[in-house]
Amino acid sequence: MPETARLQMGDKAVDLPVVVGTEDERALDISTLRAQTGYITLDDGYGNTGACQSAITFIDGEQGILRYRGIPIEQLAEHSNFIEAAYLLIWGELPTQRQLNDFSDLLTKHQALHEAIRHHFDLFPSNSPPMAVLSAVLNALSCFNPEFLRIDDENSFQEAAARLMAKVRTIAAYSYRHDRGYPTIHPHPDKKYTANFLHMMFSQPYKDYEPDPEQVRALDLLLLLHADHEQNCSTATVRMVGSSGANLFASVAAGVCALWGPLHGGANVAVVDMLEEIRRTKTTVKDFVQQVKDKRNGIRLMGFGHRVYKNFDPRSRIIKKACEAVLAKLQRKDPLLELAEELEAVALEDSYFVDRKLYPNVDFYSGTILRAIGIPHSMFTVMFAIGRMPGWIAQWYEARKAASPRLHRPRQVYIGPAQRSYTPLDKRG
Ligand code: SDX
Repeated sequence: MPETARLQMGDKAVDLPVVVGTEDERALDISTLRAQTGYITLDDGYGNTGACQSAITFIDGEQGILRYRGIPIEQLAEHSNFIEAAYLLIWGELPTQRQLNDFSDLLTKHQALHEAIRHHFDLFPSNSPPMAVLSAVLNALSCFNPEFLRIDDENSFQEAAARLMAKVRTIAAYSYRHDRGYPTIHPHPDKKYTANFLHMMFSQPYKDYEPDPEQVRALDLLLLLHADHEQNCSTATVRMVGSSGANLFASVAAGVCALWGPLHGGANVAVVDMLEEIRRTKTTVKDFVQQVKDKRNGIRLMGFGHRVYKNFDPRSRIIKKACEAVLAKLQRKDPLLELAEELEAVALEDSYFVDRKLYPNVDFYSGTILRAIGIPHSMFTVMFAIGRMPGWIAQWYEARKAASPRLHRPRQVYIGPAQRSYTPLDKRG
């Protein structure tokens, strides 16, 4: 007998089907609630609302668990790499060597940009926000790849996915080079994904940039850790836009805009701004924490807290260890890392944070790694977008392939004025 939940409203009772997930998560299926009762539900910020059933990523916020297609993030961080994890997220299984070679070849084949796209960068003023440039040029890919405005089969999806994965990195590097007035550096035919990005970012026409292998590994790990995260704000946006039938390029361009916000992907920039401000003003950690706790200041401890994790974000633990490893290998110290570690230690002892289950999230330490690799501060959130691209692609396609894909269109509770008549202009106050 399928599980149901009884909803009693006055003398009316409604039995709602209960959906049970792989890990025994339970959800009330309210898809017929309004038809049966005239009621809708209300859930500001969707903290209690499942938008879909998905087989891609699983998070247990209380246990601090994150799995891509069932594989724990700790195992992927130790044994896998970004491109292999991207393949796993998009196509559901770890690739065979042949599949990995074919995917890697596709990424190499599509990593260059159409010459006309390069001129798009000339139209942006210097100091343009890199996320604005990224979103605009990703959307422009719709113009240069009209054959993918409609994706009807697996082959065209694979081609479109490979183009996006390959080009997002090139677009990011070109926007950085253009902003600095540097000549763009073409992708290197022999360099793999992450090393090639650093090549396009930092090589010069007269000298190739040779990053420390530890830096490449740290960046690749960071991209892997950002690859997907259930129905976060930007992924939910990609699904929302895709639900109208909009093409994949337009959908991920919208995802970039959602990720930009400081409460979401923009937090990795906000964390470094916060740490640098603490140092600049010579504020003690204890005083800063007091400022955060006094709500009148409107200050948040950026990089702390999460809508789902009410325990450690497993990614932040892995990133913190990688920070320490890459700095040790480069024989460098970063005062911001030491400050972040001091902030974490004080906050985790403070009832304000403990009572609200506020722990470091993925953004708290990621900026330190990016600084160690030499990625400029302005590009931090762009790096998050490059990492999240496979997740957006996978989630968009899962929604598109659903048995009965529906246009996303939430309802509302109206609290505006009751009906009233029009007042002619000469009769208004
Ligand atoms: C990402 O969803 C995802 O999966 C996102 C992400 C992904 O991979 O896609 O994990 C990536 O976006 C990580 C989050 C990055 N953002 C930040 O680090 C910004 C700082 N954190 C927050 O603003 C906040 O924690 C959110 C936005 C992340 C979550 O906020 P919620 O779930 O809406 O919680 P809330 O704002 O209702 O806060 C609950 C309480 C409040 O206090 P009270 O009203 O109970 O007294 O906790 C307080 C908040 O004031 N609080 C914080 C805080 N975060 C929450 N207080 C100080 N500092 C903070 N960072």
